[in-house]
Amino acid sequence: MSRPRIVLTRRWPAAVEQRLAERYEVVVNEDDHPLSPAELRDALMSADAVLTTVSDRIDAEVLAVDAPRAKVLVNYGVGFNHIDVAAATARGIVVTNTPDVLTDCTADLALTLMLMIARRAGEGEREVRAGAWSGWRPTHLVGSRVSGKILGLIGMGRIGRAVARRAQFGFGMQVLYFNRSPVPASELEGLDARACHSVEEVLARADFVSLHCPGGVTNRHLINRERLAHMQRHAFLINTARGDVVDEAALAWALTNGIIAGAGLDVYEAEPHVNEDLLALPNVVLLPHLGSATEETRVGMGLRAMQNLDAFFDGRTPPDRVA
Ligand code: DGY
Repeated sequence: MSRPRIVLTRRWPAAVEQRLAERYEVVVNEDDHPLSPAELRDALMSADAVLTTVSDRIDAEVLAVDAPRAKVLVNYGVGFNHIDVAAATARGIVVTNTPDVLTDCTADLALTLMLMIARRAGEGEREVRAGAWSGWRPTHLVGSRVSGKILGLIGMGRIGRAVARRAQFGFGMQVLYFNRSPVPASELEGLDARACHSVEEVLARADFVSLHCPGGVTNRHLINRERLAHMQRHAFLINTARGDVVDEAALAWALTNGIIAGAGLDVYEAEPHVNEDLLALPNVVLLPHLGSATEETRVGMGLRAMQNLDAFFDGRTPPDRVA
């Protein structure tokens, strides 16, 4: 029996690519370029499975190929708002993702951003590298304390809760959150986190607001001018979720006009493009979508994706089927 043919849209950790090659006929994107819509359509027509990532825009137009050979889209990543799931389902294509394995590292990165922006670490690093540091003085790069402050979370899923644990047990922070559906006490696992009735309530009360909700149509520009104006002037916004949750033009306005004190971003509306106004501001830390970028997690994501792929070709329901 011939081996299923799979297309990897990007390079994966070498150890996982090797494991995949033991069972599948693997088509690798040798130079790791982001695939064009035409290349994605070609992958859908020529392979039994397409192994996607956040850099692939699998919209209804791409999925409208004449005769898709692919019956499964195995996404390397937990977020899947880059895939039009309804259009995939309509074509009879199963979609899977990789939850859990990136929770801790993404939460660590949210804390990294909180500390970097509050303690002005980006500004300090740029100063040292520019040879512009003139030495210690009481008034130099004075930031804001993180320990003991109020953290507001928008979204209290796995990653939100992992951030809450770090903030409460590591930094003695008080945690507030808004989640669309009630979070059962059993899932809070000893956290002393208080549920708020609205996004606005979290924004108005928190010193740090960290976003952990999905991207896509429902949450597009959830954080807009109006909502930013609910935040306190000394507060910071952190986004490790999806870029489209924040209206970047509104954020640049808020940062420029002192509506909020600062922001830490790992994700952007039109990656890899970053809003020019944000690039010019000192009170924002900008990272290149590094949430899950550790050796342990990237291998874990690959192995988790492979479990889904294997289940599909064994005729079982993939454990992380989202559609
Ligand atoms: C995720 O897993 O959602 C990461 O952001 C990469 O897609």
